Amino acid sequence: MALTDARLGRVRPAPENFLSDEQIQSVKEGRRDFLRKAFIAASAAAAAPAVAHAQSAGDPAILELQPWSTMLGKPVAANPYGMPSMYERNLVRRESPGLTRVGGSSVAFTPLQGLFGIITPSGLHFERHHQGWVDIDPNKHRLMINGLVKTDAVFTMDDIMRLPSVSRIHFIECGANTGMEWGNVAVPTVQYSHGMISCSEFTGVPLKAILDMCGADYRKGRFILAEGADGSSMTRTIPMEMVESGEVLVAYGMNGEMLRPENGYPLRLVVPGVQGVSWVKWLRRIEVGDMPWATKDEAVHYIDLMPDGLHRQYSSIQECKSVITTPSGGQTLLDKGFYNVSGLAWSGRGKITRVDVSTDGGINWRTARLETPVLSKALTRFNIDWVWDGKPAILQSRAMDDTGYVQPSYGQLRAVRGTKSIYHNNAIQSWKVVESGEVSNVQVL
Ligand code: MTE
Repeated sequence: MALTDARLGRVRPAPENFLSDEQIQSVKEGRRDFLRKAFIAASAAAAAPAVAHAQSAGDPAILELQPWSTMLGKPVAANPYGMPSMYERNLVRRESPGLTRVGGSSVAFTPLQGLFGIITPSGLHFERHHQGWVDIDPNKHRLMINGLVKTDAVFTMDDIMRLPSVSRIHFIECGANTGMEWGNVAVPTVQYSHGMISCSEFTGVPLKAILDMCGADYRKGRFILAEGADGSSMTRTIPMEMVESGEVLVAYGMNGEMLRPENGYPLRLVVPGVQGVSWVKWLRRIEVGDMPWATKDEAVHYIDLMPDGLHRQYSSIQECKSVITTPSGGQTLLDKGFYNVSGLAWSGRGKITRVDVSTDGGINWRTARLETPVLSKALTRFNIDWVWDGKPAILQSRAMDDTGYVQPSYGQLRAVRGTKSIYHNNAIQSWKVVESGEVSNVQVL
């Protein structure tokens, strides 16, 4: 696969992604011979993938000594904080051209099409801010606990980082992820259709331990309110059962280092399985209370307008969902033959147990390989072999979780939810492949 539009970010998983920019350019200009030589199409119904490889005959990349083999490399610590190769510079978070930015309030999407495995590099973790992001001096940051507790308390970062910590891998998905597809907008790439999801290893202290220290009244105090220190006054109600399960974390670490400022440095709430808005960043206060607060961020936003005209509130769990990340919209298959179809699946209720993949728009399904680790409330990577015969195809994935829930089609989802929602779209995604190899976003009911 190669990218037809450089603005959309480079495509990596297929072999040509290891080509130089010059070689990619030659493909764009229509000189496909190099790539034709570089791949061997798998024979039609081959069960095992035929191995695609570059042919050495006449290939200067293997026959000629390259400059980097004869020169002195750069010294250690030339980049004190390591950065990706300059050839990967197109793989970045991007704002959607279709979404307006009001002040700092907007979203930058994760380039799912270019990632491997399940961990999102911290620099590519999606960002969603209601009032821009702030870089808070940890020495001045405080976490206050109040409400239905025996002792109100204020913690410094040092206080929190002395407590016993845990590290857990979880996805965070904005409730608005895939929101534009409700209106059948068919945004061009998986970065824009599904890129408000990321998955990281978070490190912090279970909130339950901190509430225990303050003598929380768990009998009356069945809810908490989490509040952020940024200008958006972000506040969200979270049921106490979630805190009592031990899963909710007051986190300072992400992927082995401190949180990035865009993602809540120095402290954020981690609420596994729940929509991103409840993962309050720059966390400064937790109040224990006896009923939901119905703040602006839960009474007006992140609600679902149902077909009967009523709206659904506090529907916070992100239901089971999946998406094929390669091949996906904006990419081009260069030739018929073998492809590794790869994607991500997740469920806010537990573990993924199975992902089926269709290449004919949902008529026939084959079960994909789930790559380890398969963790609860984390992204799961799936892969499946596919030999493309050069004819039009529609690629879909359908995930199942350990509650037995099966990801719905658009027809099934709309039958229950109607057409007026913005949030919580977990329908099956379809990518159309045409004879030229171009892949685009289509909706299949
Ligand atoms: N917390 C605060 N304080 N302010 C915010 O604007 N945005 C929320 C949530 N927490 C937000 C916040 C939303 S809507 C989402 S989806 C997630 O943070 C996004 O987290 P991320 O930017 O780390 O991906």
